[in-house]
Amino acid sequence: MNPEEIIDRILVDERTLQERVTELARTISADYRGRDLVLVCVLKGGVTFLTDLMREINVPHEVEFMAISSYGAGRRESSGAVRLIMDLKNDIAGRDVLLVEDIVDSGQTMDYLLRLFQARQPASLRVCTLLSKPSRRTVDVPLDYVGFDIPDEFVLGYGLDFDEKYRNLPYVAVLKDQYFGGIPDDD
Ligand code: PRP
Repeated sequence: MNPEEIIDRILVDERTLQERVTELARTISADYRGRDLVLVCVLKGGVTFLTDLMREINVPHEVEFMAISSYGAGRRESSGAVRLIMDLKNDIAGRDVLLVEDIVDSGQTMDYLLRLFQARQPASLRVCTLLSKPSRRTVDVPLDYVGFDIPDEFVLGYGLDFDEKYRNLPYVAVLKDQYFGGIPDDD
């Protein structure tokens, strides 16, 4: 289905997104000047944000990827139990780690990641998320850089999927209520 058919409205348009990414990159660049920065991207949703963000960060840094999965995740909710699918390539001990995520919802995923990373003894550990849904939080997680606080609605685009698709949209949009359960097979 065309995105226009399943989208209720655009929540954050392309220009607003790009301007905020530039602002975040500027702040991060200032904060990490002279440090040993490693950006850790959480697959898959964080990829779009990471690739835009890293091109605007003007201090030397490395990029690492990791993949995690929520047990029994549904379309709207994650179960809270998180599993490591793919670990980092390099050790992060003694380095300045910045976790890059597309969205912090319940906070369960970020809570898991912060515990995992803290145990590896980085020099510093911070979080950068494009989106945050404060009203959905079930665990308190410290967020150092936040693009946008958003309401409790199903969002897709700019890395965020709906049934694994629509990650390529250049904006963040709200899904129409009627599609919460998925797209019918004959569409
Ligand atoms: C999304 C997002 C976060 C997590 C946030 O990942 O990228 O990792 O959910 O939810 P939480 O705060 O309730 O834990 P998802 O499981 O949809 O995987 P994806 O990034 O591969 O799309």
